[in-house]
Amino acid sequence: MKFLIINGPNLNMLGLREPDVYGRRDYATLCALCEAWCAEAGVECEIFQSNHEGVIVDRIQEAYGKVDGIIINPAAYTHTSVAILDALKAVGIPTVEVHISKVSEREEFRQVSFVRLYAARTIEGMGFDGYGEAIRWLKSYILTRKN
Ligand code: DQA
Repeated sequence: MKFLIINGPNLNMLGLREPDVYGRRDYATLCALCEAWCAEAGVECEIFQSNHEGVIVDRIQEAYGKVDGIIINPAAYTHTSVAILDALKAVGIPTVEVHISKVSEREEFRQVSFVRLYAARTIEGMGFDGYGEAIRWLKSYILTRKN
């Protein structure tokens, strides 16, 4: 089984970026943790980050037929991007949406999520651990659907 983990804009600035909201650990640490959680789950993984909406759309399209699951933190594009939602719908790959912070308790503009309209599950407010939860949950979701 192979997962693609996609991180949107400004997540490469973790550690520096609003540490009160996102913590003090950096993006490299998040990637290392995701690789370890995937290895534990016996899942192959590729991790991708971009600050550009169209590049994220391209990456989702390229995943068609190549990955079994997508874990995506669309970051600010969560709240604005119909294009990312449409790309996920187009490829039809099972997807989990992750947010480090508890978006449901933040500003009103963060209450909207386009990706949520497609995602099988949304995980928020668990910090970096939310990615670990997403990896384990998505694996069993895919296996259950196959049986
Ligand atoms: C975020 C929440 C978004 O509202 C924000 O724009 C981000 C990160 C999170 O992981 O909590 O960049 O997706």
